[in-house]
Amino acid sequence: MNISKDIKIRVIGVGKVGMSIVQAFAQSGFKVYGADIDKDIIDKGLKKVVQNLEKLVSKGKMNAEEKNAILSRIELSTDFDHLQDAAVVIEAVFEDMDVKKETFKKIDNLVNSKEALLLTNTSSLSISEIASVTKRPEQVAGMHFFNPVPVMKLVEVVRGTLTSDETVGQVKELARLMGKTPILSADSPGFIVNRMLNALTCEAARIVEQGVGSVADVDIGARLGLGHPVGPFELFDFLNGIPLLNHVTDYMAEELGERFRLPVWVKNLVRAGMAGRDSGRGFYDYSQKGK
Ligand SMILES: NC(=O)c1ccc[n+]([C@@H]2O[C@H](COP(=O)([O-])OP(=O)(O)OC[C@H]3O[C@@H](n4cnc5c(N)ncnc54)[C@H](O)[C@@H]3O)[C@@H](O)[C@H]2O)c1
Repeated sequence: MNISKDIKIRVIGVGKVGMSIVQAFAQSGFKVYGADIDKDIIDKGLKKVVQNLEKLVSKGKMNAEEKNAILSRIELSTDFDHLQDAAVVIEAVFEDMDVKKETFKKIDNLVNSKEALLLTNTSSLSISEIASVTKRPEQVAGMHFFNPVPVMKLVEVVRGTLTSDETVGQVKELARLMGKTPILSADSPGFIVNRMLNALTCEAARIVEQGVGSVADVDIGARLGLGHPVGPFELFDFLNGIPLLNHVTDYMAEELGERFRLPVWVKNLVRAGMAGRDSGRGFYDYSQKGK
């Protein structure tokens, strides 16, 4: 199969990242169809895409015709029949192996083309295990985007145990057509980027635990000493991602070693419901008005 901007792209699960993937495809000239089981999520997500594009128009980064052309390339629905003629399906449902497997079984049964690529945007789960429920594991790979997808230039292409060279080449080409830079990762927990990030964050948490430095000083150190745009604690607060960090590092600790286990004080934040900025508290306190 030739990868071009005319192929039929289908995104399954249009939550936070799925809808961002839809926007990125449409912005780079692809027609894209997004499906979700939840109509409310579709409506809210589309509103957000319209707002994002209007912001670009108001900043003079695109004109109103371009915005309308991008929106006209997006189709969204709770109907999964459009999967039948898909050339590429990108799955972005919840980060849960059972949900992923159920979704891939459904995709595999619905998609007619023998050549179609079945891709997952998982951040941490095994591509080989997801592929095992399909009749075409050679055409299953990871296509891991970074949020916000229209802005972030990186795509991790993840090769499962049975993924073919042809599939890897096609996914890389698709990423390039979106204006992204692909890097290739083997199927290993956290792949390349989240493995580096989670290792840094676990060490940062141990630095605090051992009284070597405070949360605020670790973040300042990462920004001013390492040149990172945000420190690790600020980042997970911003993403409201402390529970997910805890979940993923537990899995990475099982697979890769105890260096990925978060100290108890971070686990206690999760138990106390301190998920990050939106919950009012995370590594920092946002509960006071105006802070
Ligand atoms: N959040 C991030 O920054 C980020 C970045 C890269 C990759 N990811 C990965 O992207 C995936 C989605 O993450 P998210 O943060 O967007 O989650 P989310 O909870 O915002 O969205 C998941 C969506 O999947 C839908 N869904 C659930 N089951 C479905 C099914 N059977 N069929 C169709 N839709 C279904 C839900 O209705 C929801 O809209 C995860 O695998 C995650 O690891 C997340």
